[in-house]
Amino acid sequence: MRVLSGIQPSGALHLGNYFGMMQKMIAYQEQEELFCFISNYHAQTSLSDGKVLARGTLEAAASFLALGLDPEKSVFWVQSDLPEVQELAWMLSNFTPMGLLERCHSYKDKVAQGGRPNHGLFAYPVLMAADILMFQSEKVPVGKDQKQHLEVARDLALKFNNEYGEVFTLPEPDIDDNVATVPGLDGRKMSKSYGNTIDLFLDDKSLRKQVMRIVTDPTPVEDVKNPDTCNIYQIYALFLDTAGRESLRQRYLTPGLRYGDVKQELFETIRDFFAPFHEKRKALLADPDGLREILVTGTEKARRIAFKTMRKVRKKTGLTY
Ligand code: ADP
Ligand code: TRP
Repeated sequence: MRVLSGIQPSGALHLGNYFGMMQKMIAYQEQEELFCFISNYHAQTSLSDGKVLARGTLEAAASFLALGLDPEKSVFWVQSDLPEVQELAWMLSNFTPMGLLERCHSYKDKVAQGGRPNHGLFAYPVLMAADILMFQSEKVPVGKDQKQHLEVARDLALKFNNEYGEVFTLPEPDIDDNVATVPGLDGRKMSKSYGNTIDLFLDDKSLRKQVMRIVTDPTPVEDVKNPDTCNIYQIYALFLDTAGRESLRQRYLTPGLRYGDVKQELFETIRDFFAPFHEKRKALLADPDGLREILVTGTEKARRIAFKTMRKVRKKTGLTY
């Protein structure tokens, strides 16, 4: 089965990214044909500082590799190293009704939060569809927030196939209900754009500071507490198995639990969980040329597939004459 997903290098990676998508991607490489890329074109919809984007791209790549993505077992590249995808996005644009994009929540949400309402942001789902369809992806692991974009990709594949015959595989979203949306410090979706994240690669002091900022309700210590509405519990649960969750739940249901104590434990849990990956990430970032070389090898593998798709698409649409 061909599995594909991408991640934007638009800021530090956080627990939402890890549990929503990265962890699953890394697990897939053992059994499936895995395609994974850093979507730096998409990041340009929110980031115009070239130096920040370039640095973020290397950091995102190093983070993914440090966390266990194996470039031998997967195809790993940077989106803009394969500009063919822009050509495909153009082809798909001609099958994209305006209304389809106008209905996309992500566009509306980003504009409501002060994002620039430009064509790049509006056309974002078409480029994402091109990413997916270019590689004939069957399964796309993403967080719940990307579900509608997957529907757009399927819709465009159907429209294109209707016109030209079976050119594209219809992709299926792969969304895990357990961790569909990782809450942030304030209980809203954890997101770079809300400034409510717990980041993956922080020094201990900064990590502790972020964890201590998790918003809690004012239930007095002597009362029982509700784990299901508690942001600390929701985040902590990501690191626990069923037995661990049950025992934490029981502590909430017993008078005397102090949120400060649970935060301290959660800080230690997150620190210990990611500690083994810091060194590798540092080493990768200390050798940017080596890192670029890994990415170039991935681009070459990806290009072979992209070439096949584009040859077909160009022929069907009449660009090959
Ligand atoms: P952000 O919202 O911080 O900008 P991205 O949009 O770059 O994050 O998301 C990258 C990947 O991580 C996507 O697959 C997305 O669905 C997933 N993801 C991001 N935030 C969360 C979250 N809070 N819970 C679950 N998955 C998330
Ligand atoms: N839009 C995705 C995000 O913000 C990133 C992305 C770009 C992507 N192209 C993709 C995800 C293709 C899956 C498949 O998270």
